[in-house]
Amino acid sequence: MSSVVAFSAHIICNKIPGLTAIQRRICHVRPDAIVAIGDGAKLGIKECQRQFQSHRWNCTAIGSDSVFGHVVVVGSREAAYIYAISSAGVTYSVTQACSRGNISRCGCDRTKNGVNLRGNWKWGGCSADVRYGMKLSRKFLDAREFEGDARSLMNLHNNKAGRKAVKVSMLTQCKCHGVSGSCTMKTCWKTLPSFTEIGNFLMKKYHKAKKVVAFWDKLSSSKQPLRLHQRSKRRHRKPQSKDLVYLQRSPNYCEMDLSRGSFGTIGRRCNQTSNDIDGCNLLCCGRGYNTHQFTRTWQCNCKFHWCCFVHCNTCSERTEIYTCK
Ligand SMILES: *[C@@H]1O[C@H](CO)[C@@H](O)[C@H](O)[C@H]1NC(C)=O
Ligand SMILES: *[C@@H]1O[C@H](CO)[C@@H](O)[C@H](O)[C@H]1NC(C)=O
Ligand SMILES: *[C@@H]1O[C@H](CO)[C@@H](O)[C@H](O)[C@H]1NC(C)=O
Repeated sequence: MSSVVAFSAHIICNKIPGLTAIQRRICHVRPDAIVAIGDGAKLGIKECQRQFQSHRWNCTAIGSDSVFGHVVVVGSREAAYIYAISSAGVTYSVTQACSRGNISRCGCDRTKNGVNLRGNWKWGGCSADVRYGMKLSRKFLDAREFEGDARSLMNLHNNKAGRKAVKVSMLTQCKCHGVSGSCTMKTCWKTLPSFTEIGNFLMKKYHKAKKVVAFWDKLSSSKQPLRLHQRSKRRHRKPQSKDLVYLQRSPNYCEMDLSRGSFGTIGRRCNQTSNDIDGCNLLCCGRGYNTHQFTRTWQCNCKFHWCCFVHCNTCSERTEIYTCK
C-alpha cells in the first residue's frame, strides 16, 4: 500500500462514526475494500426504501447516524429485513468490486475452470467470487454484534441470511463455441443478478419471517450458550439459516413512537383508489387524508415543420395528490 493511500485511509477511517474497533482496523488495513463495503451498505438501504416505499414503515432506520451504525429499532421483522438487505448489499458490492479488479486481494473465482461437465460444457471465464464477498461482509458487519444478547444473535442470524440470499441468487451465464454458433461446446460462469432480484427474494423471506425466542443451553460447553429457537411443537427447533428471524412483534407504525422505531404515517402520500397497503385507508390508519390539487402542464401535439422547426401545444391537466392526516 502506498503511503498516500495509507494516509487517506487513516483520515477516512477515523471520520466514519460508529465503527467498532475491529471495523476500524479492517478499514485501516483494507482501504480499497472499505469503499465497496460503504457502497454496499448504501445499496442495501436504497433497495429497502424502494421495496417499502408504499408501506407504513418505509425503511426509515432510527439511530443510524452512519451507514455502518447499529440500527436501533425493536427486534422486529422490519429490523430483520434491514440487517439482511444491508449484509446482502455489502456481499454484493464487494463481490462485484472483486470481479472488476477493484480490490487487490480478490478477483474472479477460477477454481472450477476447465472442469468438464456432461461432455459439452465447462466452467470458464470470470466467475463472481461470492465466497470472498460473503467472507468480508461477515467479518465487517458481524464485528458490531459483540453483545452476546438475544438481539445480537438475531442480527447475526439475519446478516447470514442476507449473505446466503446473494449466494443462492447467483446466475449461470454461458457462451457457445463451435462452427458458426453450433454450440458443440459451451463455457459457463457465475454472475450476480440485479440487486433488485435479491431485494425481492428477501422480501419473500420478510413475509415468512420466523419468530424466535432466546434460551440458555445449559448443556452447552461453548462460549455462547445463548441460542435462538423457533416456537414450535418440536422443542428447541433451530431456525434455518436462510430464514429471517425476529424477536418482537412489530408496532403498527401508525403513530409516531421513536422508542418503538415508528415515524407514523402523517404526511405520507397515499393512493385514493387502492385497497392495498398503499391506499389512503390503510396507509393513513383510518385517520383520513388531505387532498392537494394542482395543475400539471406539458408540451403536447408536437408537429415537425419542413424544415426545420417543431411546434407544440401546451396541454394541462388538473391532478390531485393525497396525503395522510
Ligand atoms: C474501480 O477503480 C477505478 C480506479 O480506481 C475507479 O475509477 C472505478 O470507478 C472503480 N469502479 C468501481 C465499480 O468501484
Ligand atoms: C418515509 O416516511 C417519512 C414520514 O413518515 C418521510 O419523512 C420520509 O421522507 C419517507 N422516506 C422515504 C425514503 O420515502
Ligand atoms: C393507485 O392504485 C390503483 C389501483 O391499485 C392503480 O391502478 C394506480 O396506478 C395507483 N396510482 C398511483 C398514482 O400509484
